[in-house]
Amino acid sequence: MTEFQTLSGLINKYIYNNQLSVLATLRETKLMKNLYYLLLISILTLASCKTQQITTPQDQQSKLDITQMQGGMWVPSELEGMNETEMRILGSNMSASDIYDTTKPSLKDAVVHFNGGCTAEIISDQGLLLTNHHCGYGAIQSHSSTENDYLKDGYWAENKSGELPNPGMTVTFVVRMDNVTNQMFQGTKGVTNADLEKILNKNREALKKTITIERDQKVTVKSFSNGNQFYLIVTENFKDIRFVGAPPSSIGKFGADTDNWMWPRHSGDFSLFRIYADKNNNPAEYSKDNVPYKPKHFLPISLDGVETGDFTLVFGFPGRTDEYLPAVAINQIVHKLNPEKIAIRETSLAIMDKYMRKDEKIKLQYASKFAGIANYWKKWIGESQGLIQSKAVEKKRALETEFQTIVKEKGLTQYNTIFSDFNKLYEEYGEAAQARDYWVEVVYRNVELLNLTFRLYQLEQTYKNKGEKAFAKARDEFVKGKEGFYKNFNAKLDQEVFAKLMYMYDARYPKTRISEEYRVKLWNESAEKAYANTKLTSYDGLKRVLKGTGKQVFENLNKDKAYQIGSAYSEKFFKELNPNFYAVKDKLDVVQKLYSKALQEVFPNKRFFPDANSTLRVTYGQVKGYSPKDGMEYLPVSYLDGIIEKYVPGDYEFDVSQKLQDLYATKDYGQYHYNGKIPVNFIGTNHTTGGNSGSPVLDAHGNLIGLNFDRVWEGTMSDYNYDANICRNIMVDARYILFIIDKYAGASHLIDEMKLVHPKK
Ligand code: ARG
Ligand code: ASP
Repeated sequence: MTEFQTLSGLINKYIYNNQLSVLATLRETKLMKNLYYLLLISILTLASCKTQQITTPQDQQSKLDITQMQGGMWVPSELEGMNETEMRILGSNMSASDIYDTTKPSLKDAVVHFNGGCTAEIISDQGLLLTNHHCGYGAIQSHSSTENDYLKDGYWAENKSGELPNPGMTVTFVVRMDNVTNQMFQGTKGVTNADLEKILNKNREALKKTITIERDQKVTVKSFSNGNQFYLIVTENFKDIRFVGAPPSSIGKFGADTDNWMWPRHSGDFSLFRIYADKNNNPAEYSKDNVPYKPKHFLPISLDGVETGDFTLVFGFPGRTDEYLPAVAINQIVHKLNPEKIAIRETSLAIMDKYMRKDEKIKLQYASKFAGIANYWKKWIGESQGLIQSKAVEKKRALETEFQTIVKEKGLTQYNTIFSDFNKLYEEYGEAAQARDYWVEVVYRNVELLNLTFRLYQLEQTYKNKGEKAFAKARDEFVKGKEGFYKNFNAKLDQEVFAKLMYMYDARYPKTRISEEYRVKLWNESAEKAYANTKLTSYDGLKRVLKGTGKQVFENLNKDKAYQIGSAYSEKFFKELNPNFYAVKDKLDVVQKLYSKALQEVFPNKRFFPDANSTLRVTYGQVKGYSPKDGMEYLPVSYLDGIIEKYVPGDYEFDVSQKLQDLYATKDYGQYHYNGKIPVNFIGTNHTTGGNSGSPVLDAHGNLIGLNFDRVWEGTMSDYNYDANICRNIMVDARYILFIIDKYAGASHLIDEMKLVHPKK
């Protein structure tokens, strides 16, 4: 089936556009809003009639521009109306209350925030959880040893007693999300910004008291839309989460850094956990007496797969987007902030790479750190390119010109100075943000010894502010926590990173006027001295230097060469870089809040969603390829055949296990193939960001069809400028997950727990 044969693709563009412009004016009043939905529904009916017809080239030309309905991360408790209608036009069969309801089980009851950073979903009536391999990575690593390397070989619990506890791991359900904007703004009319915070805090506390919560539930009132909206959110935390299984990294991380943020992709990026509860099905700390959690809802899994044009819904916890920044901010990200962060990481990655290639042990020690640093390095490059190619700055400028014209016409004088304020503040912000970025990238992120000294500096503050007892406790924890750090630390490598990065830092913010040549020499010598005259490069050294009272410890430590440098830079961060940054950031936040509000008032017909803020959201779209460049077209689904094509024997990124090769050779695919091929990954127009990893991808009926894990290179700019023409999220096909669990791992007992369905048949 081609794209144009799908329901939405057949809607006549002429009708759509003409009706939309009518609709646009209609959306201004509440009554008119209802009419708007009615009209959208009539388009829907018309469209479904047209699906019966045979397509002609004319139909194709007049296809509906449904890109306008994609993009956005919507609040699940407010889907009724516009979102529900748009979803139906895109092919959904679900009502808003199928997705979110507080009076009966709904999809939201199967979606959890996984350990605060990712998303996961329940796929059996015994609390079986599915998330990404890269989200479970730390846990998998913590259960691994050289004899039992679960990262390398994978792991599959044979029964419940083989499921491994993960102290400290939590998953969080959303019990309810209520819009409390009006209540929060009560009594705030005409008050100044300073007083506003106080009133908001008072209202927040009062609101929280109106909610009776059950044991283990938590109420928060969170700001949305840059402080223009507020939601009261009740959550419930489960704490006994056990590791059930994961494929080897050669499947879970296939393609590693080379393929990261790229399409076509072939990664089996999934892992399995299970929620345990006490005998009453309530959250509880780990206990061997706990039992598998009985969920309110779990997701059936579709065996029918996807094709171009299919409706997709991604339900998860996106971390952060900044979709409403002004042009001046985007310009600054592209031309000022991203390039230097990229350059710093590039330097450090090149050094790591050099050492990793020479030494097998270093390669193991630094693989995960390398991947972590490379992840956003690569993202920023793609992001900047995408922002340039999509002309994001020019588009924002055009919008701003229109904005100013309407502001003038309507006499909305309160918005007159928004852009002059932005321009002035972003000038200051650029410098402050860049100075802070340098510190973060060099001291905090890339030079491991400096990161260590930063943590020690914080320990020194604990000692100074809270005294000996607090220090002793914090120190013991610190020492215990650092064993792993030293297992994976190579001082020679880190010294070279120090020398190069500190040179870059010093050249950018010079304290003295010296020649570049001399500056290089200076930092090489300084690195030499610092690493030769510190106890901090070995675990024994650290333990020795931290022995004794706080007074003794810091007397000694302040004579340590590396600590002297590190603590001076840490002090600089707290006394200068961070305060300077927030002095402007706080002012910018006030203007951004006003601008976000103004945008909705000035363009009442445009769709505005609140930026991601790690709360539960719904985004929807369609399975769709894209054209990365003129003359190129990407298909939306990849297959096992592509894994075999990419196979490089023994390579750390592209090796393929014998077992998978055998399954491919014998075509032992069971019920998981599509026309004799195993689908691996697919892409769609869903608007996702970091935190959406592990999110369930649902079909028109709420069945699981995939697992979100990444985005395409050309579209990573979606955090600032979602564009349905080029932004794609990348998902693991549910059938690949089932195939690996069943045929590769032989863990059919897990398949037996699940509910496999055929919605298309
Ligand atoms: N790009 C994915 C997301 O930001 C991460 C995928 C993990 N894989 C990797 N090679 N780092 O987080
Ligand atoms: N890989 C990301 C995550 O870990 C998802 C993304 O940024 O698209 O959440």
